[in-house]
Amino acid sequence: MNSFLLGLVITLLIVAAWFAWRYYDLKRRIERYSNEIRKLEKNLPTDVSHIENLSNAIASLQTAFNLQLSTLNSNNARLSTVLEQLIDGVLIADADGFIQLANPAAQKLFDASGVVGRSITEVVRNHQLVDAWRRCQQTREVQSESVELPARRQFLQLIAIPDTHASGSLLLVQDLTRVRRLETVRRDFISNVSHELRTPLASLKALTETLQSGALSDPEAGPRFLGRISTEVDALTQMAQELLDLSRIESGQVELILAPLVPKNLVTSAADRMRMQSERAGLKLSIKCEDGLQNIRADKSRLEQVLVNLIHNAVKFTKPGGEISVETESATGGIRFAVRDSGVGIPAESLSRIFERFYRVDKSRTGSGTGLGLSISKHIIEAHGGKIWAESNEGRGSVFYFVIPLANS
Ligand SMILES: Nc1ncnc2c1ncn2[C@@H]1O[C@H](COP(=O)(O)OP(=O)(O)OP(=O)(O)O)[C@@H](O)[C@H]1O
Ligand SMILES: [Mg+2]
Repeated sequence: MNSFLLGLVITLLIVAAWFAWRYYDLKRRIERYSNEIRKLEKNLPTDVSHIENLSNAIASLQTAFNLQLSTLNSNNARLSTVLEQLIDGVLIADADGFIQLANPAAQKLFDASGVVGRSITEVVRNHQLVDAWRRCQQTREVQSESVELPARRQFLQLIAIPDTHASGSLLLVQDLTRVRRLETVRRDFISNVSHELRTPLASLKALTETLQSGALSDPEAGPRFLGRISTEVDALTQMAQELLDLSRIESGQVELILAPLVPKNLVTSAADRMRMQSERAGLKLSIKCEDGLQNIRADKSRLEQVLVNLIHNAVKFTKPGGEISVETESATGGIRFAVRDSGVGIPAESLSRIFERFYRVDKSRTGSGTGLGLSISKHIIEAHGGKIWAESNEGRGSVFYFVIPLANS
């Protein structure tokens, strides 16, 4: 029994000793961990500074990125403004010919909207222009092509440039219609001037030769031929003067002396100047003026010249017994003047052309005149900020209208 108790006590002591050892071991390990954590805390500030550096680097990267982004955005905005304002059409197409970008001018030139995503062939609708784009795609070299589109009365030039960053191409389309028209007008002008000069010069030559070969001493033929020479010289002088006027007005060299003018006074003074001529031609010239018209702002002598030109035409193209009336009334945009006649009229197809230089409806019918009067008149009216046009009923008569802005507008 005693030995049993002794054994129990020894066993209890061993168990107690094991627990005690476990307890101390645990405590020692906890202390070691706490020390290590404490040591970690001491190192913490160094790590925070690393993190701060990193965050600064990220922040400056972001600032640089934002700066680049805003530069890119403003460049994009500038580029799109340029593209929008450009009068030349710009199309960018991918390698398969599908349009990726089109400025408003391109859409207008090709008379198409919503062109992005559509094919070049579908939008351009002209095989010569499409061929130029194909050549550019195949050769990767700049190609250009000019075409006339009779249906749209347009003259276009296309320049296809290969895109160096992508496999597509950039198409630049220029509308050369106006330039072409001006070239034609200039060419016609020179040939018309030489033609118009040839006729009186040939007569002068013939007349002087006749005089030289004896007619000078003829008491009847001599003075008659000299009279005809004088008439031809007058016609040439008038033509030279008209050409000079026209070129001065066209090049903007003529300065208008603008002042407030009473419309009725202008009409009266122009009609008075032409009264005798119209009476001699057997025509009745009258004036119709609306009451209380406001003043216009105009160059008196130039505007009177326009009215005289129009009345002179009316006299030339109205048969004896006919009527001419010069009218004024208020209209949108200012005061409207009209010169109405009961003459031969103008065919509808010529109405849009009579204001062109040297244009005469029927050269054999016109008799005197070089076809410059209406062209000069148009320039004078436009220089005043007004507009001029004609209406006519062939065989019944014509009306020439022009509107001049008010003095206080
Ligand atoms: N009132 C009119 N009635 C009929 N035809 C007209 C009338 N006015 C002008 N025309 C036509 O328009 C053409 C051009 O007129 P415009 O005044 O420019 O030239 P013109 O009278 O022939 O010559 P210019 O005025 O240089 O002496 C005329 O030749 C004529 O065919
Ligand atoms: Mg005339």
